[in-house]
Amino acid sequence: MERIYASCDAKTWEGELPPPREVILENVADADGLLSLLTDKIDAEVMDKAPRLKVISNCAVGFDNIDIAAATKRGIVVGNTPGVLTETTADFAFALLMASARRIVEGDKLVRAGEWKTWGPMILLGQDVHAATLGIIGLGRIGAAVARRAKGFGMKTRYFDVNRNLQAEQELGVEFTDLDRVLSESDFLTIHTNLTPETHHLIGAEQFEKMKRNCILVNTSRGPIVDNMALYEALRDGKIAYAALDVTDPEPIPKGHPLLTLQNVIIVPHIASASVATRTKMGLMAADNLIAGLKGEMPPNAVNPEALKMPH
Ligand code: DGY
Repeated sequence: MERIYASCDAKTWEGELPPPREVILENVADADGLLSLLTDKIDAEVMDKAPRLKVISNCAVGFDNIDIAAATKRGIVVGNTPGVLTETTADFAFALLMASARRIVEGDKLVRAGEWKTWGPMILLGQDVHAATLGIIGLGRIGAAVARRAKGFGMKTRYFDVNRNLQAEQELGVEFTDLDRVLSESDFLTIHTNLTPETHHLIGAEQFEKMKRNCILVNTSRGPIVDNMALYEALRDGKIAYAALDVTDPEPIPKGHPLLTLQNVIIVPHIASASVATRTKMGLMAADNLIAGLKGEMPPNAVNPEALKMPH
């Protein structure tokens, strides 16, 4: 924020919860730039209320909250924060994988509830991570960073993506295959794809039918990629063993949601990139994208660089 305040006049929303829609609509009227969070829906209506808007800087790598086509059409460049959160997010995906495989959250709850009576040969038996098969949906930066961790753990890895990542295939020994095979052969399945109309509910009832009954699903990407009600039924009916979710649909997941009644699910509040160092880097990157866009320059990380060629 200091970097931004030093380069322009900025109004900030100080509330803990995202600004209500009407506050966004009202305040963009005279804005040249907008710094948004992934909780802010920035669509054509917002852009139409902002005739001066030149840049939208999203403080996230994901940008499904922004209508990119609408921005490009209006000559508004959009920035995001790729790269700096890759390793931190991969660490967290692996932490969720390990925590669910070895039932760490359940163990902690049992101890705190005073239910640890003795060592027992059958208490909280989990699944081995080493030598298991990890399926990765989306082998971009974060997916590849997870594959690297899996290699260190002696896992077999395969992936599905609309684009092949030959470098990661060679360097990490991760095998490219179709979605059905990833679903049917994986002991662990981790999602690292963007949310788009094509990936919305990519994992639903039909996909759970194809998965191994011991499969553990990890999602650190976007909640709507998984059909949450189908996931609930799959976990309840033993079609898969466990899920570990950093993201849900909606967010926050409402109190009383059926998923929260299950023991075989871990849900945390969208914190995969939440290390001090990484959030600092994301903030600085978002500030730099904003400041460049305000000057009419190309932001260091632009999602739609072609927007600068459009009449504004
Ligand atoms: C992102 O950047 O898209 C994450 O979801 C939050 O860090």
